[in-house]
Amino acid sequence: MYYSDEIIEEVRTRSDILNVVGSYVQLKKKGSSYFGLCPFHNEKSPSFSVSPQKQMYYCFGCGAGGNVITFMMEYENMSFQEALEALAQRAGITLPQKEYTPEEKRNADLKRVLLDMHKDAAMYYYMMLHSPQGARGLQYLTDRGLTGQTIKSFGLGFAPGTAGSLYRYLRQKNYTDEQLKDSGLVRLRERGAQDVFWNRVMFPIMDANNRVIAFGGRVMGDGEPKYLNSQETRIFDKSRNLYGLHAAKKSRLDYFLICEGYMDVITLHQAGFTNAVAALGTAFTANHASLIKRYVDRVVLTFDSDGAGMKAALRAIPILKEAGLGIKVLTMKPYKDPDEFIKNLGAESYQERIRQAQNGFLFEVGCVKNEYDLSDPSQKTAFHEQIASRLLSFSDEMERTNYMEAVCREYAIDFGEMKRKVNSMGSRLAPAAKVYEPPKSTAKKPDPEDGVRKAERLLLTWITEEPSVYEKISDIIMADDFSSPLYKRVAAMIIDQAKAGSVNPGQILNAFINDQEEYKEAASLFQMRLPQELAGQDRNRAFTETVARIKKNSLELASRSADIKELQNLLMAMNELQKLQITLD
Ligand code: UTP
Ligand code: MN
Repeated sequence: MYYSDEIIEEVRTRSDILNVVGSYVQLKKKGSSYFGLCPFHNEKSPSFSVSPQKQMYYCFGCGAGGNVITFMMEYENMSFQEALEALAQRAGITLPQKEYTPEEKRNADLKRVLLDMHKDAAMYYYMMLHSPQGARGLQYLTDRGLTGQTIKSFGLGFAPGTAGSLYRYLRQKNYTDEQLKDSGLVRLRERGAQDVFWNRVMFPIMDANNRVIAFGGRVMGDGEPKYLNSQETRIFDKSRNLYGLHAAKKSRLDYFLICEGYMDVITLHQAGFTNAVAALGTAFTANHASLIKRYVDRVVLTFDSDGAGMKAALRAIPILKEAGLGIKVLTMKPYKDPDEFIKNLGAESYQERIRQAQNGFLFEVGCVKNEYDLSDPSQKTAFHEQIASRLLSFSDEMERTNYMEAVCREYAIDFGEMKRKVNSMGSRLAPAAKVYEPPKSTAKKPDPEDGVRKAERLLLTWITEEPSVYEKISDIIMADDFSSPLYKRVAAMIIDQAKAGSVNPGQILNAFINDQEEYKEAASLFQMRLPQELAGQDRNRAFTETVARIKKNSLELASRSADIKELQNLLMAMNELQKLQITLD
């Protein structure tokens, strides 16, 4: 981490969580907390809470939780560094200059310079589009049905036909040849400098945080290549960016529409489908899939209707499936792509096609079918075997059965026969297939571990909300009595702060900020519902039981590795525990 704990804590305390989260999510006061619709999953009634006392947020629906810094990281898709910088700026704090090695400094500086340069270039192209030189470009875009508003919101521009005009503009903005040479925007030759893009309409490519990181340029009319794209640079990695993501992530729908081209994304957004994204003229990668998974759990593929589009869909499906995304495939026949479809049939028909989109698996089977002549009995058998082997890829039995039913219905195959085929194929593959079998369900029996964890969370929440209760148990419960390493770490911090008089969850979470799983889990430790309605003896009893349960588990664990003498002590302690009676206030 580059910044000191002190400065991180200063940024955190001066960024009030209610204020920051409130600028993204509508919140309503309820008791001592504020509630709203969770921005991290799709829901209809609010289970997302923000606590000004604890300076943290927590969603009782999806378990998202953390402090103001992790909120920015998750919501804005920022790195820790970027989140801290954004919050510092918002709070008017000047961060100290980071101490980079010279190498790191060169890289960081170059990155910042390239981002600035791309912003300037986008501005230049945008100005050109609206200048007399750009009239052809503007006409082209208008002819393709784009409105002024759309052109503006996607920042479309125009690269004039005069060689080197962007180069001169950027030099005038004080970028050096050294900085320009790796930008992908110009080529420096002995004869002089040339722009990479000329006489094209320009599509700025933005990352999830609205920063221009590359360009695509289209010829107006016919010509090769139709689209020219920026080469990869320090700031542009094709496999980690999606065109339209900066807008799609704000759409608040629970799925993305995935299409193939720049114009498809833009037309879809203009028609109200603001959840459309596209890979940037490359095949879909696992990185794309996990990027999507950050925002949604489902996708609808809307690839071109031709053979190439179908192939692209077939390649993308396993990658998306691997990332855990639900997949549907939409057909735009008889039209080629979303752009053509919407021009001809309009947005409502497109919405209807989304509704009718086919399940990804059935789409795959449909494609495979075309390779077989089903009027030939032996080919028909081969097709059925192909289906059976694909069904085996579902490790969950219920899921497999559901797909089997669907596919048998669609192709008029006898369900019993298909089932026998799948089973016999499965048992032939048994040794390999076994590995993929889900563990036998043990969910029925309550796991004693869970009960202990729950007691531990309850106690930690209790101490957080009423730090003085720790005095009553300081000689019984120590951080080491908690059962997992993470719980021990959090407990140690809570106990320290409780001794000092007040517990500050927002601050404690700073320690876990580098690991999303950890800060989520740590956040959950502050979120138990206390038995507030209890009073007097009932309250004392509930507290005592919680403490006893945790201590008993801790003693049992210790006894597993104890020698005889220790064991005697532990047994005595366990006996004592039965007599435990704590009186609060
Ligand atoms: P298409 O050829 O389907 O183009 O390429 P399109 O999106 O329908 O474009 P219009 O409607 O004719 O303007 C799909 C995508 O593949 C990439 C681009 O990202 C394009 O949007 N592509 C295509 C290239 O990168 N270079 C090319 O020469 C062609
Ligand atoms: Mn098109």
